[in-house]
Amino acid sequence: MKFFIDTADLAEIRDLAATGLVDGVTTNPSLVAKTGRNFLEVVREICDVVPGPVSAEVAATDVKTMLLEGRKLAKIAPNVTVKVPLTPDGLKACKALSEEGTMVNVTLCFSSAQAILAAKAGATFISPFVGRLDDIGSAGMELISDIVSIYSNYPEFRTEVLVASIRSPMHVVEAARMGADVSTLPPAVLRQMFAHPLTDKGLATFVADWAKTGQSIMDSPMPGKAKEKAAKVKPAKGKGRKATE
Ligand code: E4P
Repeated sequence: MKFFIDTADLAEIRDLAATGLVDGVTTNPSLVAKTGRNFLEVVREICDVVPGPVSAEVAATDVKTMLLEGRKLAKIAPNVTVKVPLTPDGLKACKALSEEGTMVNVTLCFSSAQAILAAKAGATFISPFVGRLDDIGSAGMELISDIVSIYSNYPEFRTEVLVASIRSPMHVVEAARMGADVSTLPPAVLRQMFAHPLTDKGLATFVADWAKTGQSIMDSPMPGKAKEKAAKVKPAKGKGRKATE
């Protein structure tokens, strides 16, 4: 499963990219608004930090302007994925941009019917929003299971299921069980995934017990080194023993 992070905050992106676990980034207009920065500059900087797909969403809602915006965003860097909403105009833009070789992420997906349309429009990613469905009392993860199963019936669908609106590590675990291709995680959720109280407790015990040994791995000589060194020392000329001795 690929991990994208769902933020436009460069400090968070740099910090989490350093773990080596981040395969891409998703942004949306609300996340960009939080930064207070110029959108195109933010996208450029994110693309410099993360070589994988970086979703940048169009602002327009009509196909003509979406295409103009999408083409401009795609020129920022080769890893820009243009994000379009799941509307008739959004899917027209998706089809045209995909045919031009641009990666497209179709966002705001809340039903399997919509996911089928996005796949037919050539989307690179479909983004079903699980948390927002949970919020209205619908089972968000059931939608993921349904889309994964439908797409698997049609090998010609190349669209990857990108689980969005994730609220907890359990969403990620369930998505992985279902075989979703990508999870886009808020930074806090990725950090929560590392955490387990037994890991903390176990590590504290190991650290304390190691201190009792009084040893240091770095200060200890490599085992066998002394012998190797002695074997490599050649006797001085004329002073060596004869083989027969
Ligand atoms: C993903 O691409 C979306 O931007 C994001 O996951 C939405 O999440 P939210 O429902 O927490 O705003």
